[in-house]
Amino acid sequence: MPGHKGFVLWFTGLSGAGKSTLANKLVAEFQTRGYNVELLDGDEVRTNLSKGLGFSKEDRDTNIRRIGWVARVLARNGVIAITAAISPYAEIRNEIRADVEKEGRAAFVEAFACAPLEALIERDVKGLYKKALAGEIANFTGVSDPYEAPEKPEFVAYTSEETVEQSAERLLAYLQEQGLIFQETA
Ligand code: ADX
Repeated sequence: MPGHKGFVLWFTGLSGAGKSTLANKLVAEFQTRGYNVELLDGDEVRTNLSKGLGFSKEDRDTNIRRIGWVARVLARNGVIAITAAISPYAEIRNEIRADVEKEGRAAFVEAFACAPLEALIERDVKGLYKKALAGEIANFTGVSDPYEAPEKPEFVAYTSEETVEQSAERLLAYLQEQGLIFQETA
């Protein structure tokens, strides 16, 4: 699609908060529109680019910096680079934002997948919260490891209150408003 801008769309949020679901929805939408889009999903990155890394602060920071680097070089070449990792530390997210903005070739959009921990524990799609609460998984984000919610994200998806379609629609409207994507002609 000639002319659309590259940007980094950075999802952050607790495990199970709906980052990947929303990210995938947007990927499908952008593909339909013929945009260049790439998804760096936390779970997937950890099976290749970050294989072998664990969940200590140091390993998470390394994982996030790698994802940030790939997203930045993609975005500066006109790709919509979508990331979906917990990325629990504000400092590292801000470092990546600063790198992208300093270069001045792409925008950085932070999108917070916001859901109350209680709702995630109740839903527990992967069964990991139960294990974490039972002490079977150490350093589990939100349970026994920190999660620093973004203070000023460009976008907040209230994933326990709205459907993925509603979140996606609002996010697309925001991106359009910012001139990052084109208005769809019906
Ligand atoms: S991050 O902190 O480095 O950004 P990332 O998004 O790559 O995390 O991976 C999170 C996923 O790994 C979770 O959705 C969950 O499936 C799995 N996981 C396994 N152990 C942990 C843990 N201790 N804390 C958080 N997630 C974990």
